[in-house]
Amino acid sequence: MSDNIQGHDVAGGLDRVLVLEVARVTEAAAIAAARFRGRGDEKAADKAAVDAMRKELAKVHVQGRVVIGEGEMDESPMLYIGEELGVGDGPEVDIAVDPLEGTTICAKAMPNALAVLAIAERGGLLNAPDMYMNKIAIGPGYPEGILDLDAPPSDTLHAMAKAKGVPVSEITACILDRPRHAELIASVRKAGAGVQLIPDGDIAGVIWTTDPKETGIDIYFGIGGAPEGVLAAAALRCIGGQMQGRLHPLKKEEEVRATAMGVTDIKRKYNMNEMASGDVIFSATGVTDGSLLDGVHFRGDFAETETVVLRSKTGTVRRIKTSFRMIGTKAVP
Ligand code: FBP
Repeated sequence: MSDNIQGHDVAGGLDRVLVLEVARVTEAAAIAAARFRGRGDEKAADKAAVDAMRKELAKVHVQGRVVIGEGEMDESPMLYIGEELGVGDGPEVDIAVDPLEGTTICAKAMPNALAVLAIAERGGLLNAPDMYMNKIAIGPGYPEGILDLDAPPSDTLHAMAKAKGVPVSEITACILDRPRHAELIASVRKAGAGVQLIPDGDIAGVIWTTDPKETGIDIYFGIGGAPEGVLAAAALRCIGGQMQGRLHPLKKEEEVRATAMGVTDIKRKYNMNEMASGDVIFSATGVTDGSLLDGVHFRGDFAETETVVLRSKTGTVRRIKTSFRMIGTKAVP
């Protein structure tokens, strides 16, 4: 091991051994959720993923604190915001979890459900309340500052096309298929760009922008969950790209909750580095087959998973295929 204190890297930042530890956590959550694919029961699928993720997180050598979790302590007994997790003998870290990103797609056995986790040095992740966030994100290779959440979509799309040296008709935006996005979708199409609508799962939507040749997606636009926004920013910090987000409360109580969580300006536009800073490690394991990752495959006594683990300090993108020996419905640890 290259470090002198468990969990700390001698060169600063998080220990690289944690890369494997976080992968184990999302693998466990994905296997647990996969048992509920296509059962039409979002709650059961989510609970299975939460239980498994919490159990695995308890074994990781960190002094962890959940900043993006399953809700407030009074509404969610597990992985609640503020919960202390980990063995307690490693570095102090912020933990952001989405044990099952795409509960509905898992319940319907549709593509792209994921188990997702990010850890960062303490204070590195925005404490975003469980409300909506307006987001815009692109992958690497564009001039810095090309994104502005407040700019008309047409301006952004034309600036991207110019930077890429292509007509705007060759730009595709990924947008959640929701009535609230009707105007946005119309304006993207009016500008001449294409729109790929997704039913759910905007963390993957943001990650797809980092590899447009493979995914066909150049930009992510629209309003989705704020916790998913922070997790997407964590992933983008590792791969490269640009992102902005602004909290989008629907009622006064959400603003009050945001203030209680330390948000001083509800209208503030956060950039990627303000949502995820310092050394960040991000891990996602496929639950259902998707274009980012294969889902869990149960074959006889084995469960196979595919995970992508990203690290901001090195920019490494690591894909891990794991085969677990199963005893009954449990993977042998
Ligand atoms: P869940 O897994 O919590 O159901 O979230 C799925 C999701 O599609 C997110 O990816 C997205 O950010 C959010 O829901 C959008 O919220 P809504 O479904 O209310 O439009």
